Parts: sequence; structure tokens; C-alpha cells
Amino acid sequence: MEPVKVGLLGLGTVGGGTINLLQENAEEIMRRAGRGIEVIHACARDLNKPRICDTEGISLSTDPNEVVDNPDVDVILELIGGEGMARDVMLRAIENGKHIVTANKALIAKHGNEIFAAAEARGVIVAFEAAVAGGIPIIKGLREGLAANRIEWLAGIINGTGNFILTEMRDEDRDFADVLAEAQRLGYAEADPTFDVEGIDAAHKLAIMASIAFGMPLKFDRVYTEGITHVTRDDVTFAEELGYRIKHLGIARRTWNGIELRVHPTLIPERQLIANVDGVMNAVVVKGNMVGPTLYYGAGAGAEPTASAVVADLIDVVRALSCAPESRVPHLGVHPHALADESILAM
Ligand code: NDP
Ligand code: HSE
Repeated sequence: MEPVKVGLLGLGTVGGGTINLLQENAEEIMRRAGRGIEVIHACARDLNKPRICDTEGISLSTDPNEVVDNPDVDVILELIGGEGMARDVMLRAIENGKHIVTANKALIAKHGNEIFAAAEARGVIVAFEAAVAGGIPIIKGLREGLAANRIEWLAGIINGTGNFILTEMRDEDRDFADVLAEAQRLGYAEADPTFDVEGIDAAHKLAIMASIAFGMPLKFDRVYTEGITHVTRDDVTFAEELGYRIKHLGIARRTWNGIELRVHPTLIPERQLIANVDGVMNAVVVKGNMVGPTLYYGAGAGAEPTASAVVADLIDVVRALSCAPESRVPHLGVHPHALADESILAM
């Protein structure tokens, strides 16, 4: 059978990591997907920039539209980031009948309702595992593993950059700005790092998880959002002396009057598992009414962990291509007919 043809938007940390992973694990991926996968066209702003991956044999463009308009491309990997241009390109790709895998939480959190509706109308898949908690398969965990449960609450460390900063401030007594600069060098931070430190990135991720966990529309604008910029080294030290750790958490829970969504720094007793999740690692605890609490842990950012989630989605899409189109779930979130209306949200 012909390999599935992929168009890759973005050759940065995640795009480069994805090409490397597809090359290194080609044999396992072929076995699991049941078909070969070939990246045939990619784009970046500056084609002369040194890359972490080898792009030999791949057609290169600076215009993402050339990739999504390529008639030979079956699946688009959207790894550019941002909301404006990425939204336009994604809607154009859907219109062109391309299936999509994205790591773009800002785009899904703010425009997911529109994108999923367009995907459903056109009968294409939009998958977004990499958008939440890097390499941790939390979307699949919520959607599949816990599908039989009524979710009571979920809470987690869902920004790797912020957790890296808090950990280094505590363990190495380092300066906030210095650690943030290192997170940027390591490829953990967002293009605009205020998204990481002001809690916006965590709010995007919380909105996405809550949508799946509670079967509600994406409601990013309803997340109470506070970042870590006001946390000082003294705060971290005093918390430690009192037997606590400061962690930035995203929390979604059922209350007596609806679902509450919030992200903010939290004091956690040091004996709790989640208090010991350090560096770029993320962890999410999800409480289902039947299974009880479950814990998901792993690297929350970086080229290889994120590429792991991107390619897992790509394998899902390739598998779905061998099913009849009418049996495919158009976006790998909550089935649109199962969405509760927004009165489910706490006032
Ligand atoms: P990078 O900035 O490293 O890469 C972005 C890539 O997109 C670059 O290759 C850039 O080109 C290209 N690009 C940007 N704008 C355009 C444009 N207008 N036309 C053509 N190419 C363009 O970002 P990341 O790889 O870190 O992030 C990509 C996405 O993945 C984002 O949505 C991010 O939120 C998400 N994500 C990132 C994680 C991480 O750990 N980094 C983890 C999970 C999700 P050029 O290189 O020439 O500038
Ligand atoms: N900037 C994000 C983080 C990338 O640090 O968690 C992963 O989503």
C-alpha cells in the first residue's frame, strides 16, 4: 500500500522532533499504523536556518498555504503555533479535505469549537494529543481510558516551563529570569513566554481537558487565570520550611453550581505525589466516580516528548483511514452530539 503523505507546518522544536522521531522509529510506526508514513512537503519562515532534523527529500516552502493546497498531501501536522494565521491555515486545510494533527493548544482552546464544527462538516479528523501536557497521553486517557466514568475533578501541573522555573528557584536558588531564559533555550517555552509564566498556556490546556472530561464546549474565557510571576524565592523557601511546595496547578471540578475552572500557584504538602513532580515534568490527577483517582505523569514539553504525542495521533489518523469514512470520529475529543450546553459552567 502507498505510504500516507504528510504535510508538515513548522520545522522548529516540535516539527523537527517529529521528523527525527518518524525517521528513528520508522519500523515500529509502520507496524503499528499498518502503512508507511512519508513527509513530502514542509514549511518554515526561514529556509536557511539550521535545523535539528534532516529535511533531505522533503519539498520546502515558506508559505504554509502551499503545503495545505498540495493535492498529494493526506494529513497536515500543524506545528507552527499562534492563533491568527494557524486558524486560517487549518480551516483551509479542512476545506481541502486534509486530516489534521496539531500541538497548538492556543488554537484549540480559543477556536476549537469552530474548527471541530468545520471538520465534522467536511468529514475530516482533527487530533490534538500534543496540545496538553507534552508527551503524556492525557487526552487519550480522558477520552478512552476513563470513558466509563463520571469525572468528578482533575488537577495537574500542566506547564513544563513554569514547573521548571519553580523547581530551579527552590533547589538551585536561581533567579526567575535566568531559568526562564534556559527554558527558552531548551525549547520548552512558548514563542511568547508570558503565556507560560502568566498561566495562559495552562488555562488553554485546562479548557481542553475540561471539555473532554465534562463533555462541555471549550470555554477558555471562563478559566480563572493567575501565573507564577509574583512567586518569589522567599515564598518558595518559606513554603519549604513549613513542609509545603509551591506548584502551579490547573484545576477543574464539579461544584454544587457547575464546573469550576482555575489555574494558579498552590501550596501542596510535600508528602503528596504531585508536590514531588519537578523540572519540566507534568502530572495530572483525574478522579473518576468508578475508578477513583488516577495519575498521569511524564515530560510536559520538549522536542521528543511532544513529537511522541504528535506521532501517536498521526498513527491514529492513519489507522482511521482504513475505516469507512462514516465510522471515523471527526475530532478526537468529545462527540459533538454529546456536548452539554454551557450552563454546566459555574457562575
Ligand atoms: P517553534 O517556534 O520552535 O517552531 C515553529 C515553527 O513554525 C518554526 O519552524 C517556524 O519557522 C515556523 N513558522 C512560524 N510561523 C510561520 C509562518 N508564518 N510561515 C511558515 N512557517 C512558520 O515552536 P514549537 O515547535 O516549540 O511549537 C510549535 C507548536 O507546538 C506551538 O503551537 C506550541 O504551543 C506547541 N507545543 C510546543 C511544545 C514544546 O515543548 N515546544 C510542547 C507542546 C506543544 P522558523 O523556524 O523559520 O522560524
Ligand atoms: N510551553 C509549554 C510548556 C510547552 O512549557 O509546558 C508544552 O505545552
